[in-house]
Amino acid sequence: MKRALLLLFFGAALHGQALRDLAAQRGIWVGAAVNPSHFGEAPYADTLAREFSQVEPENAMKFAAIHPGPTTYAWDAADAVVNFAQAHNMAIRGHTLMWHQASGAPPWLTGLSSTDLAKALQDHISTVVGRYAGKVYAWDVVNEAFNDNGTIRSTIWSDSPGMGFTGTGHIEAALRWARAADPQALLFYNDYSAEWINSKSDAIYKMAQDFKARGVPLDGIGMQMHFTLNSPAIASIEANMKRFTDLGLQVQITELDVRLPVDSTGVATADALAAQAKIYGDIVATCLKFPKCTAVQTWGFTDRYSWVPSSYAGMGAALPFDGAYTAKPARDAMASAMQTAPAVISAAGLVNAASYAGGAVAPGEIVVLFNATYGPPALQLPTGTPATKLGAVRLLFDGVAAPLLYSKLGQVGAVVPFSVAGKTSTSVQYEYQGVGSNVLPVAVQTSLPGVFTLDASGAGAGAILNASTFGVISKDNPAKGADWLAIFATGLGATSPASADGQIYGSTLMPAVANVSVMIGNMNCRVLYAGSAPGLVAGAAQINVEVPVGVASGDQPVVVTVDGVASQPGVVVRIR
Ligand code: XIL
Repeated sequence: MKRALLLLFFGAALHGQALRDLAAQRGIWVGAAVNPSHFGEAPYADTLAREFSQVEPENAMKFAAIHPGPTTYAWDAADAVVNFAQAHNMAIRGHTLMWHQASGAPPWLTGLSSTDLAKALQDHISTVVGRYAGKVYAWDVVNEAFNDNGTIRSTIWSDSPGMGFTGTGHIEAALRWARAADPQALLFYNDYSAEWINSKSDAIYKMAQDFKARGVPLDGIGMQMHFTLNSPAIASIEANMKRFTDLGLQVQITELDVRLPVDSTGVATADALAAQAKIYGDIVATCLKFPKCTAVQTWGFTDRYSWVPSSYAGMGAALPFDGAYTAKPARDAMASAMQTAPAVISAAGLVNAASYAGGAVAPGEIVVLFNATYGPPALQLPTGTPATKLGAVRLLFDGVAAPLLYSKLGQVGAVVPFSVAGKTSTSVQYEYQGVGSNVLPVAVQTSLPGVFTLDASGAGAGAILNASTFGVISKDNPAKGADWLAIFATGLGATSPASADGQIYGSTLMPAVANVSVMIGNMNCRVLYAGSAPGLVAGAAQINVEVPVGVASGDQPVVVTVDGVASQPGVVVRIR
């Protein structure tokens, strides 16, 4: 009995982590299209709940399924998907509100005037999106509205008879109706054969640019990815993802499957399964290069239930699990990409923790690195002295590990090592579980002052105490002329005596080497002290000043200048 249990345990360990846990470390959803009619089949429900963190109804939310008659809504199947997702802590994508295929445009719409058609779609969107507001986090609002040559597809919604709009006006209208029905939901345009750079994706890109410029509510692009072994070049897919995410849009992979030639029993060759796995892995790795690629979803998950065999003769075996729910090489390639694709960091993500100013670092500056695409899902805090490794995360500056203040997925707080002093540039690299990110060259300055603010927004009331009473200066406790204040900041640069990385400052004062001046209300202050902040980590600075007599009352700007470099604008101190 004991041995059997041990074997079971080993079996689980060998199987490794579930896709959904790996995806959580990458800050993405891993989803599957589902049919609620299978939820009663235990291995279907178990595999889905164990491996995936997102579901999307394959058909249950399509127009004809959910709104079969002018005044008839059929919610049961869609509700079942929502209930399953909620019971298993999964995100829900909605699919799809405006589509041309039969299931996207039921017969009762045929013959309506343009005005009535527009009214029908608006009602449909507000009813369906409204019902699932707060539950469905993202909608494929519009599906497949372009032809492969980049022209607008002729559909009931566009021009046959159309809803009375021209160009992409019907798409814009659907997005606006969806935004009105649920202002929180992310709104996607979803299509196929537009995953790489071609006429169709060019046209969608042009539309997206126009929508962004005019404030039309578009949040993301869904890339379906119904592929064969002859799938498009990954470099072209990557370039396409780059241009859309550079526009500020999210990208989600919404319907991934890679269909294979199969024999009469639906079986593919081992070679084909291996080639399929490579494509699955490459797609996941490509998504992980972009912080704004936020989901990888497959169209179904088991070969037992897939649209492929009935849609493409002689093809099948397109999904990551086989018909018996056993993981295929494709599933393991997805897992391995999630575990090994390096984190990607960018210069824009590395900023001063007080001011959020970026572009350079200074020795001892407290910084935040945002948007690394790999990391521990939960917040980690050091106990005692800051560690240089936290939750398997390190942040290296020319190979020197920085003291870490906290770490969670997509956000790590750190202190730039003092050893960057005297350099003009440093190579920054983030590391999670021993896997290093790209190496980022960042300019080094002797100082880069930022003043901490009470709400940590980088603006508004500064983190400033009355140096005699230690009371926080606020509207209720304003400062006045001749008061001594302690301003908390970072980025003052080196101290003398020198600060050691990660040391907690004691009562021995270690003044900043640089020249520090302070203005309050545009008046110069007498600076009594600038340097180490007793009790805080090396790099945190305290600046004691005397409030100028005669300073104006109200919220007055506070600016710290260190060797000619000013702290961020917008920080104030309340004067009586
Ligand atoms: C397909 C479903 O998988 C089938 O069950 C249904 O009969 C037709 O629709 N692109 C899409 C999906 O956006 O909605 C389609 O789903 C597959 C192609």
